[in-house]
Amino acid sequence: MAKKQLRFGVIGLGLMGREFGSAAARWCHFLNLDFEPVITGICDTNVALHEWFTDNFDSVKIKTTYYHDLLASNEIDAIYCAVPHHLHAQMYVDILNAGKHLLGEKTFGIELSAN
Ligand SMILES: NC(=O)c1ccc[n+]([C@@H]2O[C@H](COP(=O)([O-])OP(=O)(O)OC[C@H]3O[C@@H](n4cnc5c(N)ncnc54)[C@H](O)[C@@H]3O)[C@@H](O)[C@H]2O)c1
Repeated sequence: MAKKQLRFGVIGLGLMGREFGSAAARWCHFLNLDFEPVITGICDTNVALHEWFTDNFDSVKIKTTYYHDLLASNEIDAIYCAVPHHLHAQMYVDILNAGKHLLGEKTFGIELSAN
């Protein structure tokens, strides 16, 4: 069955970023789904973390240290964002305002006002 591809950009390539990559890589364990995630963009300010993704995902087209590059890309439908808590409020709002779907990590905001 041909699957619809959901093209993801990943912001934050630490533990949870790699968890997301691993989940995308073993998507075949789901039965009867007509869609699959494909990682087309990656972003982390620590460039040393880019290599694990470029080594393991041929689908990566954009790698950057500036997350707005992913938000501006027409190669990306949705963003998985796994950065430290204090960055969630700004980045999550920027992602949604850019018209991308958002899969955000908990906690959404570090305090009530951020939420
Ligand atoms: N570790 C867990 O078990 C776990 C579980 C559930 C949720 N979470 C949540 O996921 C989020 C990430 O956690 P983690 O464990 O992956 O942290 P991590 O420190 O391993 O990774 C965070 C990454 O964000 C990058 N980063 C920081 N500022 C950035 C910026 N401006 N632009 C791009 N990248 C930037 C860092 O360089 C780092 O690689 C946190 O909100 C955490 O609470 C973590």
